[in-house]
Amino acid sequence: MANLLGLKLHQRLPILAGAYPCSSWVTCTSCSVPKISKIVKKWNTRTPRRLILGLGASFWAQFMSMNDRVGGKSFVASARQTGAVEQTLKNVEWPEQFPFKDEDFQRFDETPDSLFYEAPRFVTHIDNAAIAALTKYYSQVLPPSNTPGVSILDMCSSWVSHYPAGYKQDRIVGLGMNEEELKGNPVLTEYVVQDLNLNPKLPFEDNSFDIITNVVSVDYLTKPLDVFKEMSRILKPGGLAIMSFSNRCFWTKAISIWTSTGDADHALIVGSYFHYAGGFEPPQAVDISPNPGRSDPMYIVYSRKLSTA
Ligand SMILES: C[S@@+](CC[C@H](N)C(=O)[O-])C[C@H]1O[C@@H](n2cnc3c(N)ncnc32)[C@H](O)[C@@H]1O
Repeated sequence: MANLLGLKLHQRLPILAGAYPCSSWVTCTSCSVPKISKIVKKWNTRTPRRLILGLGASFWAQFMSMNDRVGGKSFVASARQTGAVEQTLKNVEWPEQFPFKDEDFQRFDETPDSLFYEAPRFVTHIDNAAIAALTKYYSQVLPPSNTPGVSILDMCSSWVSHYPAGYKQDRIVGLGMNEEELKGNPVLTEYVVQDLNLNPKLPFEDNSFDIITNVVSVDYLTKPLDVFKEMSRILKPGGLAIMSFSNRCFWTKAISIWTSTGDADHALIVGSYFHYAGGFEPPQAVDISPNPGRSDPMYIVYSRKLSTA
């Protein structure tokens, strides 16, 4: 059965508490299913952030009515259900137009990103098990180390890219906000400091990258379609874009549609970026969570640039 873009309110709530970096919220992995009722209760009694920011309201209104078309039950019952995230992008019937509105890309903190990322953070943003799962995934899908002519862009990069140990290519570019972090990233052969929310144009030639990665950062993009169009432009035909994410974020800097939805919804949101940007094969989702419920979940949404594009 085809998936439709229908989300239920209670599925959007667990992520509310997933503030990060989760020093005191190391348990944000536990903020999913078991605590839904508690969080719903909190939501009901607090000032609704959705009202302040218009969090996903347009999205919600637009798709509420489509819910019953998903066979009477939502396809995103819980990201914890085996395969729920992977199912999310199977046979999606995408609406003709990009379904999100400007307010869906607002953030609680609209000050310049350059301020937020001014000081380097030499930390990791997901736990070791999630990092290991991502690195293992990369070892299966990235071109072998030292393949002649291979170029990779790590978008929203920092001091670490999570590629396999010792991984090397002719060209690995990091693009991010903090120069000190990028300078400290041993895998990069070059870096660019650029605020993609101010300037989504990627400063690279057409058809020049084999791979684009983006780790736990796609949720900070306020102009995702512009960025994904650019990704399509700079990828070589058949080039692979790998967006990975967990259930944590700097919630003041993440877009409202992200902070008001759950893991499976996030796969759908990222999938929609590929779909509506154009030039990509149908996006797919993979759940590589290492120990569901005990360590950070880890999800991939990936797509290849059409070989004909
Ligand atoms: C949570 S960190 C993740 C860093 C790294 N990818 C990792 O896995 O550790 C978010 C990253 O997104 C980048 N970022 C956030 N907003 C950005 C923007 N507007 N333009 C470009 N990069 C941005 C920051 O530089 C930061 O490195």
